[in-house]
Amino acid sequence: MSYDVELIRGDFPILDRRVGEYPLAYLDSANTSQKPQVVIDALVDHYERHNANVARAMHVLGAEASAAYEGGREKVAAFIGAARAEEVVFTKNASEALNLAAHSLGAGLKPGDEVVISVMEHHSNIVPWQLLCARTGATLRWFDITEDGRLDLAKASAENLINGNTRIVSLTWASNVLGTINPISQIAAQAHAVGAVMVVDGSQAVPQLTTSVAELGADLVAFTGHKMVGPTGIGALWGRYDLLAEMPPFLGGGEMIEIVKMTGSTYAPPPYRFEAGTPPIAEAVALGVAADYLHELGMADVAAHERDITGYALESLGQIEGVRILGTTSIGPEGRGGAVSFTLRTADGLDIHPHDVMTFLDSRGVAVRGGHHCARPLHERLGITASTRASFYLYTLRSEIDQLVDALDYTRDFFGRVA
Ligand SMILES: Cc1ncc(COP(=O)(O)O)c(C=O)c1O
Repeated sequence: MSYDVELIRGDFPILDRRVGEYPLAYLDSANTSQKPQVVIDALVDHYERHNANVARAMHVLGAEASAAYEGGREKVAAFIGAARAEEVVFTKNASEALNLAAHSLGAGLKPGDEVVISVMEHHSNIVPWQLLCARTGATLRWFDITEDGRLDLAKASAENLINGNTRIVSLTWASNVLGTINPISQIAAQAHAVGAVMVVDGSQAVPQLTTSVAELGADLVAFTGHKMVGPTGIGALWGRYDLLAEMPPFLGGGEMIEIVKMTGSTYAPPPYRFEAGTPPIAEAVALGVAADYLHELGMADVAAHERDITGYALESLGQIEGVRILGTTSIGPEGRGGAVSFTLRTADGLDIHPHDVMTFLDSRGVAVRGGHHCARPLHERLGITASTRASFYLYTLRSEIDQLVDALDYTRDFFGRVA
């Protein structure tokens, strides 16, 4: 069956909403995606029929909840092509997964060791590494970007960025601002050649691209449920099992232990070692349903739709005078994620603040994000303080891009008149 966006939209009750007199054009999916009815139903069904704690409840409901929780793990593992379900650690979100990675991987770092990230990272893939470096005395280094918003591989090579001192490389697979898709397997090979561990922030890519953790070549991959039609409150860290097994725990508490004595404790094997306390049970069940939903749609088709709609958006926005798109303005052979960030200027050269743009678009039913999108260093590198971001997903229509363009024309005219 061909990919039918109208039909798919029927699965997402919220997309019928109106905002005042306008139909809702939800162009903020890089922030959080909307949820299909099956995911909403899975949450309700779990609480209505199977709710109990996992692992520790020795009754029918406890067994059902445990099986459903582990079932969620199996579905998520299958969705990303993991070799086994135990390679998937459930966390609260991608931020917690990256903190876990930084905390546990970095336990043995010392002065002279280096951690490499990039200037295009989300704060969630910057701050945990800064904290780690402050704690251990290791040095944080980063990839710069080229004019068209790609990792500057030539500069990195000239600077010998990845070298014998590199212990960890942690990069985003797809930028939440520029849409750039980074050559992860190539960089993972460089990291491995010097004995470093490759961590990937898959928050924007896992929802949009077919994920095969084996092909990606990384050692750890963080992602977040709410951006992939799943619920909030759950994310995951996938890791090579042998690496997870070597990593010390992150948070301490119930369920992550083997034996606890007053003189010390031993820890459960992965993934439980990293899941202290009562986990997000209903959320894991619903995330499994979300993964199945995406799988049934077909991630190749989801990615093709994303490319099509992003190409249309780049072309349409490119025709508005005063719009400056950040990063690459074409899909390109590497592909491009469905996030397009831009600045807007009046005919007289007045920069319209993204918060004003966002408010004006909102008044016309168009939901976008304005600000630094948790990527302040990237904005500083681009010489701006903020931008407006429109982001698309498997349910985005061309007519919603047209609604965005009309609303931007209206905004630009308004500010042109008051200037
Ligand atoms: C690239 C990237 N990394 C990490 C995150 C953090 O995700 P969460 O807020 O779910 O932890 C986001 C969310 O915007 C993101 O876009």
